[in-house]
Amino acid sequence: MDIPTQLYGIIGYPLGHSLSPLLHDHAFQKAGIPGVYLPWSLPAEKLGDFFQAVRTLPILGGNITIPHKQAAIQFMDRISAQAAAAGAINTFFWDGKELCGENTDITGFLAPLQGRRFATALVLGAGGAARAIVAGLRTLNVQRLVIANRTYETALALARDFQAQALPWEERGTLCADIVVNTTSLGMKGAQQALTPYPEAALHATRKQRDHAPLAYDIVYNPLETRFLREARAAGWECCSGLTMFVEQARAAFKIWTGTRPDAAACAALVQQALDL
Ligand code: ATR
Repeated sequence: MDIPTQLYGIIGYPLGHSLSPLLHDHAFQKAGIPGVYLPWSLPAEKLGDFFQAVRTLPILGGNITIPHKQAAIQFMDRISAQAAAAGAINTFFWDGKELCGENTDITGFLAPLQGRRFATALVLGAGGAARAIVAGLRTLNVQRLVIANRTYETALALARDFQAQALPWEERGTLCADIVVNTTSLGMKGAQQALTPYPEAALHATRKQRDHAPLAYDIVYNPLETRFLREARAAGWECCSGLTMFVEQARAAFKIWTGTRPDAAACAALVQQALDL
């Protein structure tokens, strides 16, 4: 057996749920690259030490997840324009001697939306994930970009940064949007799985006012079909789960590191299989 010589990994805290090692290890194998991708559970106070290690050991790249996506920026030599807009990085890599940060969450989010136009977009939630989504939507020339969040002040602050509009959480069902994106944790496997961020009645009301099916996009991928998507589908909406975004952010990171992109269908099948277990 060949011993891998190229080291990659993901940092986050806690990291129990990450499917990235599965996906990237599979991709390295398929591409015949002697890489290994490890899960590194890393508390916030160790972030500086970690990037010191990256500059010392032969670590060629990696991913960054909650809660380090913002704080990791300070340890980079350079970050991309889209990462700067999102104020967060989820990928690091070497460009010569420079340690660089990128945000492939944006690339992943936008992947299923290529060539689409939305007049009105509603983003539910205003946390770290929402910032990348809003930055992504801004590149699609959305005419009216609206953010609703339980904590109104956070929505206001995010809206201000992107020339968007903030809407009180209680009023989120009153907006007739062409795309609604859930970036909150509502519907995620666990304690919040039975919850939805969007009123079912608003799904029906919006559908009635539109000639075409609006798009419900949930960035949650576990479960694959959240209550939000199930209700949206039943109301005649087009649906997009977080699986595509997850797979595409990983493929984009892998491309940065290796120059090749793993097969999308194989990646999706692998993740789906792991989620079904
Ligand atoms: P992430 O980085 O994944 O976005 P986060 O920054 O903790 O995580 O953001 C979680 C989002 O889910 C926030 O918008 C949060 O709303 P608040 O800003 O009011 O905390 C939202 N959220 C979490 N639980 C919620 C609930 N029960 N009802 C409504 N929104 C909720």
